[in-house]
Amino acid sequence: MGVKECALLVTILLVQSTLESGAGDVDRLVRLDAVVLPQVEAAWAKVTDPNWVNLGKVGGIDIKLVKLFRKIAEALEGLESAVPPGLGDASLELAQLDEEVKALEGFFETFRTFQGRNDVAVWQRDWRNFAEAALQTTPPSVRAALERVHQIVAKAPDESFYRHVLQDGDAVMCQGGQSLQQLIFNLYTYLHMVQLKGYVMLQFSWMLLRLYGKGNFVTESMNEKNKFYKRFDKQMEMARQVLETTSNEMRRCDPPKNIEGETYAQITRLLQGYIQNEVDMNGDESCSENCAYYSYAKQHGCFKNGFCARQPSCTGRILNCQFVDADMGVCLSDIGSTRRYNWIQYENGRTLGKRGTCSKYNVVDSWWRWLVLHCSYCFCLCDEPGRHSDRYFSLRPSSSNTTFNKVVTGVRFAKRNRMIHLQIQEGELLPHGGINQNSVSWRPVPDFRIDDPDVKDGVDYHTLSWESRALDLDDVKLPPKCLLTGVRLRKLGDHLNLEAECSLFNVTTGKLVKPATRKIWLGNDNTDGSVAFPREELILKKPDDPMAALPGCPAVRSTSNMFIKFVNSDIDADAAQTTVPFIDIQSVAPSPATPLVGVGIYHRGCQNSGGYVAPKVMTYDASQHLLETVTVGSEA
Ligand SMILES: *[C@@H]1O[C@H](CO)[C@@H](O)[C@H](O)[C@H]1NC(C)=O
Ligand SMILES: *[C@@H]1O[C@H](CO)[C@@H](O)[C@H](O)[C@H]1NC(C)=O
Repeated sequence: MGVKECALLVTILLVQSTLESGAGDVDRLVRLDAVVLPQVEAAWAKVTDPNWVNLGKVGGIDIKLVKLFRKIAEALEGLESAVPPGLGDASLELAQLDEEVKALEGFFETFRTFQGRNDVAVWQRDWRNFAEAALQTTPPSVRAALERVHQIVAKAPDESFYRHVLQDGDAVMCQGGQSLQQLIFNLYTYLHMVQLKGYVMLQFSWMLLRLYGKGNFVTESMNEKNKFYKRFDKQMEMARQVLETTSNEMRRCDPPKNIEGETYAQITRLLQGYIQNEVDMNGDESCSENCAYYSYAKQHGCFKNGFCARQPSCTGRILNCQFVDADMGVCLSDIGSTRRYNWIQYENGRTLGKRGTCSKYNVVDSWWRWLVLHCSYCFCLCDEPGRHSDRYFSLRPSSSNTTFNKVVTGVRFAKRNRMIHLQIQEGELLPHGGINQNSVSWRPVPDFRIDDPDVKDGVDYHTLSWESRALDLDDVKLPPKCLLTGVRLRKLGDHLNLEAECSLFNVTTGKLVKPATRKIWLGNDNTDGSVAFPREELILKKPDDPMAALPGCPAVRSTSNMFIKFVNSDIDADAAQTTVPFIDIQSVAPSPATPLVGVGIYHRGCQNSGGYVAPKVMTYDASQHLLETVTVGSEA
């Protein structure tokens, strides 16, 4: 092996060792183009070099060429398809693209298989057949497939095949676990790689046929090379235009099955429907008022061990009482349930909640005192902090390990020790917006409890209450040159408000810049009290228990700069037993992992359902560096 060949081998091995990150990695693209294209050039220099050609007899030189290309091909192997499953079904154009790509991959597979053979007897014949087939201008051939792929990929954005991919945007995002921008970009890089494979096979074929004395082919190969670079410029330009108008948001949709602790968590018993007789809500055992009088009360006693003795009492505040009807049947929930009642049916027929069979049925009748005063059972709300009510949000920040150059690659809500946390996934940042996929992991949420000695309400966590139960719904987008390295909730007035930590980074080196001192927290400081554009409340209309909602209405109901209040579910639909919205705890972590440039909290749900609050993230647009790719490639 000559010095030059040896150097080439070393370079390719180096490239391979850096190829571990996922699809859509610009850095890989840059390196591959920068290495593979010059190596193809170098190979041409060899086959046209009289010394090399005269090295030996036939069956010797072609072996050398095959070996050379085996190394090149190895660098191109193991590229994951970034094409989401079933994409080919979306349109005729995509089906065609799919077919051409499969043709190219098929040729490449044969190329790789032949490279592994050592049966020299049939070797020359098979290789010649391969080369001739690859070079044909009519399909099936590498040349024709490349032509066709280019025709489809290079179309202007308004008639681009990418639009078929975007058409079913939400489904693709949910299925593929990528933002649409990421998806398009990964698709672009994949197609680039596939075409690179095709190009390598074409050049190899000409070189081989030249060695077999079938012609000169220098002009053909030069033409192909020029065409190839021009095509990539064009395809890149088109992809850039599409990407500029494509959303970089990634969020989750409703899962096929809702499972508490896996896909959602609940705030429990923040405000809950509660039946109390007015006689127990004042110190005098009086019935001289009506239910509406008790808008802010508490339980004082339990008169004559009535219904109050048969249900767990509300030891907190009793709010917003109303009179529904005097006599009722109450189905108490089982001990341990977050509900107090399964359902209530009044004598006048009105039913609160969904009537079903019942194991703890109670007849509850109001009564007259001295024939003039009605001691009514009222329907109220109970606000009762305590061990049955999970109503805490962590205020501690979750930041990535910036000392070790890690950035946030995913976010999710997590419930731990009865408290809701924002948890992060982190990964090591690489050049050109890459992430070392092997370094990606979820950072454990801090393990603390509200009753730990040095843990303080208002500092380490927030307790929801009637007065303070709003969560701001915002998209926090970071300024350019910034990547997300942390998330946290803070108190902004009475509201919980999302903040994002921004760290500067150097794209070329893939290093965070002075992370210890140059990090800042950013959020939307706007409040509902502001004069210009006050924050708007997202009001849930008659919200039912989210579990009662039919699947398949995954509507996003909020926009940035809104807020939502945790509230009891609807009285009629659910006897006000559930606290809504629920917390979506599904992971929002694009795959392959990618740096993030924003984070948000939004509300998703069906009409008349409590729905979910959930995080979303915005992915980094690595296509900004495509220009570099082609520049590097063209230098060859
Ligand atoms: C950051 O990572 C290093 C190496 O794994 C570890 O030693 C260190 O404790 C981590 N720091 C933080 C804050 O997690
Ligand atoms: C990024 O790092 C490279 C190499 O250290 C340096 O030459 C370049 O100026 C840096 N870029 C920025 C924007 O700081």
